[in-house]
Amino acid sequence: MKFRAHLIALAALLALLTTATAADAKAKANWISHCAKCHGENGRGETKQGKQMKIPDLSTKQIQSLFTDEQAFKIIKEGLRDDTDKVSMKAVEGLSDEEIRAIIPYIRTLKK
Ligand code: HEC
Repeated sequence: MKFRAHLIALAALLALLTTATAADAKAKANWISHCAKCHGENGRGETKQGKQMKIPDLSTKQIQSLFTDEQAFKIIKEGLRDDTDKVSMKAVEGLSDEEIRAIIPYIRTLKK
């Protein structure tokens, strides 16, 4: 029965890996549909809108160190204001809290 226990463990592990990969793929899809028009697919913000907004380059260590995961969550959910209290990044609409949480590890992968 030892062999069978191994098989069950292996199946459980595979199921876990598949779920993780599916979540990553969804986070990436959300990034592309909700964030990339400003931030660019690679996070560098080299899009028309990103350039106009002088968007921070999310592929750099320096910018990534400016916010914690909790702050990123808040920025995405509530938006961000600049020093003059002007909205610099609007709150992102159409994502659930869960989807926002899932996007944050994806943002971290954009760091070079
Ligand atoms: C309408 C354009 C736009 C969209 C869409 C957008 N952002 Fe932003 N984002 C900005 C701008 C502009 C800033 C810089 C704001 C600042 O520094 O004052 C910013 C800043 C950020 C920051 C903080 C970087 C820093 O400088 O502290 C994070 C994290 C971030 N965005 C994540 C996201 C995620 C994730 C999405 C999609 C769910 C998203 N953004 C969608 C324009 C956008």
